Amino acid sequence: MNPVETVRIVEVGPRDGLQNEPQPIPTATKLALIRRLAAAGLKDIEATSFVSPKWVPQMADHAEVMAGLPSETEFPGVNYPVLTPNLKGFEAAVAAGAKEVAVFAAASEAFSQKNINCSIAESVARFEPIMAAAQAAGVRVRGYISCVVGCPYEGAIAPQAVAEIAWRLRDLGCYEVSLGDTIGVGNPASVGRMLDAVAARVPMALLAGHFHDTYGMGAANVYASYAMGVRVFDSSVAGLGGCPYAKGATGNVATEDLVWLLHGLGASTGIDLDALVDCGAWISAELGRVSGSRVARALLARRG
Ligand code: HMG
Ligand code: MG
Repeated sequence: MNPVETVRIVEVGPRDGLQNEPQPIPTATKLALIRRLAAAGLKDIEATSFVSPKWVPQMADHAEVMAGLPSETEFPGVNYPVLTPNLKGFEAAVAAGAKEVAVFAAASEAFSQKNINCSIAESVARFEPIMAAAQAAGVRVRGYISCVVGCPYEGAIAPQAVAEIAWRLRDLGCYEVSLGDTIGVGNPASVGRMLDAVAARVPMALLAGHFHDTYGMGAANVYASYAMGVRVFDSSVAGLGGCPYAKGATGNVATEDLVWLLHGLGASTGIDLDALVDCGAWISAELGRVSGSRVARALLARRG
């Protein structure tokens, strides 16, 4: 019998999912979402981002979100990483109690400028003091790369460009590099070419897939990456989300769809799909939108 594969799911709904919502979302709703996700078995829940509130107003309550996170006794062993674009954000995150942060770069120069107002090289230079401060404080750092297949401003992105920045992030000390198809234009062929190039520079075991589902290819891209050996995926409950600096991009692959797919493949995720579906239905109702998860809609219809 083949051993059961274990897949780690990083739930990015409270951050990637909510950052682009035009309506103000009360901090209490964000915290209730995080609690429901933890209760469904998620162990990595990206809670918020310490970016400029002028750039992303929806994340302005980052310190309040951190202050209201569930205790270790309530949900043992749950990580609540946060995004930090620069040292200012890192220091604020650590002051608010963050034990893990994520820096975010891009494989496209134009996207880097639009998203964080600097070149790729400047972004890496900004991360260096974060890495040093994180090491001193015992904080883990994850690295993100946006536009790993395509960019809303530059079009197709060369796999080698992704491999180069992935190697830089790993070399800086990121424990894992999450590969973001920000605008969801990837398919199993283009994602496969990108992964081949990246895995030649950074071991597959240190890579994560972060697929937005704009063109409905999220699950297919997860499957292709899983077949190539990726065992960490980012997703967003009910498929919430979109990047404020990638016009028209929709949310991440829905966590419910990801769990359904992985469990169907015989992999273990530690997640209770029924509880997750309830969580997705709840947040979709709170936001007044239809869930982006086909699996959740099907399972809810089956319940009657
Ligand atoms: P900037 O304007 O170049 O920054 O923005 P600056 O250093 O010149 O400072 C300007 C002002 O911002 C100053 O305030 C700073 O104090 C303040 P003022 O003196 O004018 O009052 N400031 C900050 N305030 C709070 N927190 C901070 C911070 N830094 C400076 N950390 C900056 C540069 C990076 C700050 C800005 O561009 C920014 O916040 N960008 C974030 C954009 C963002 O959050 N995008 C979405 C997340 S990435 C994503 O979704 C992709 C991902 O999901 C993967 C994928 O799908 O591809 C991860
Ligand atoms: Mg994203």
